[in-house]
Amino acid sequence: MIKKNTNPIKLIRYFKFINYNLIYNNKAINRYKKVSYEISDDKADNLERLKKSIQKIKNCSLKDCATNMVFGDGNPKSKIMFIGEAPGANEDEEGLPFVGRAGLLLDKMLAAIDLDRKKVYISNIINYRPPENRRPTDEEIKRYLPFITKHIEIIDPKIVVLLGSTAMNALIGNEVVISKMRGKWIEKKFGNCKTSVIVTFHPAFLIRQPAQKKMAWIDLKMIRDKKI
Ligand code: URA
Repeated sequence: MIKKNTNPIKLIRYFKFINYNLIYNNKAINRYKKVSYEISDDKADNLERLKKSIQKIKNCSLKDCATNMVFGDGNPKSKIMFIGEAPGANEDEEGLPFVGRAGLLLDKMLAAIDLDRKKVYISNIINYRPPENRRPTDEEIKRYLPFITKHIEIIDPKIVVLLGSTAMNALIGNEVVISKMRGKWIEKKFGNCKTSVIVTFHPAFLIRQPAQKKMAWIDLKMIRDKKI
């Protein structure tokens, strides 16, 4: 047991003595360890094939500027799939969706309805980070739409939660607005997957507009109470 006010020089000597590696770096701690889930060979193959087809995209400036592709995270067997907009800087670095500030809030939102990343599956409309975190263009969304549609079909969730207006407009249509659309169940088909869809606010929006959290809480309770 190390005493609270131990002299730092003595501490360094002690750590050297026990061969402890005192190396510091400024890399973010990856709180999201990859867990492997036992999924059917079919689902695993389909996800792998989809990942490869996204990696093969040509002439895409998003891909050219990004460090990593951000495919998905969570439990591929889950009945609930959350879909955001596009990776940010932290996601680009980690190769995982929602690991930055918005991700922390998403984790809290999940916890509020007794969910976590092991119980849901998470992806984005776009798989590569747009430079300076700008909103993806209509053209970029159009290009990545077949991939997220296929992704939903493979995961085959009973519930799809669209986080924010980019995900909503991409998958429901441009004629709808989030203030009218959030907190309502609609039935949708993505390929062969028939699923119930709900729109709620994006966690990054909720960080900017915390007063809207009460509306998001209504949506979260609808997700919690949905019979699936
Ligand atoms: N915002 C998103 O829409 N997706 C992420 O993965 C991170 C932030």
